[in-house]
Amino acid sequence: MTISSLAKQLREAMHVVVFTGAGASAESGIPTFRDALTGLWERFNPAQLATPEAFRADPSLCWGWYEWRRQKVGQAQPNGAHLAIAELAKHVPRLTVVTQNVDDLHERAGSQGVIHLHGRLNSPRCIDCGHSYQLQESLEDLPEEGSRIEPPRCRACDGYVRPGIVWFGEMLPEDAWRAGLEAAEECDVFLSIGTSGIVYPAAELPLRALGHGATVVHINTVRFDVSSQEHFLQGPASARMKSLLQEAFGDIPAL
Ligand code: OAD
Repeated sequence: MTISSLAKQLREAMHVVVFTGAGASAESGIPTFRDALTGLWERFNPAQLATPEAFRADPSLCWGWYEWRRQKVGQAQPNGAHLAIAELAKHVPRLTVVTQNVDDLHERAGSQGVIHLHGRLNSPRCIDCGHSYQLQESLEDLPEEGSRIEPPRCRACDGYVRPGIVWFGEMLPEDAWRAGLEAAEECDVFLSIGTSGIVYPAAELPLRALGHGATVVHINTVRFDVSSQEHFLQGPASARMKSLLQEAFGDIPAL
């Protein structure tokens, strides 16, 4: 599909879903998980950092790693892709942003009602009683990679507060998953941006959208195989989103 026919579909759509992965935040300097050399899972072992067992075995190592990531996000700025997604909401009757990202860059770019399938770095909870907490946005120094930081204790039960992230083997937050699924099954255009699409159940969303007749477009720096009914725009998320929006809605000064 050419960019102009895709732009036409975007102009005519009643409901657009934008589904993002780590690649959407890459241009803000936030590392992805699986990119060669720079991906977090290329350099760190998820078994030591991204399971409830890992947290119980070494809470300070685990908490320190998420604090390092959280502070990196705190120092980053939304990039052109986040801004274009927030801008798109002004041009279509309905836009739903569903993200696998645990940062708050969509919100800081101006997107509202973002569905976080994999939790949020700023919203940890007690590992024992589930009491939830909100961490402050503004942070001091970036801790060293691999620093140990003792997690805070829960005010209600004195258990350790754990990162509010969905770890391997855990269920997605039920409300977020249901809302993501409903949006995917209801939309006319589904833009999947900067995700390797290999982590389920999140990766099911483009398939659900396709199954319900939506136009599904993948935007990624690296081309991968998609079915003949899906579309691919290869390149960085910020540049591809900007050209798509300009093609669909004319010059947008904010981008
Ligand atoms: P991945 O690291 O698996 O994939 C990132 C994708 O972004 C890759 O396909 C890259 O080619 C692409 N990419 C990189 N830079 C880009 C750019 N500037 N523009 C467009 N695309 C770019 O990250 P996710 O798919 O998000 O889970 O990974 C899914 C889940 O796996 C994450 O949510 C995380 C991880 O384990 C949890 O934290 C629960």
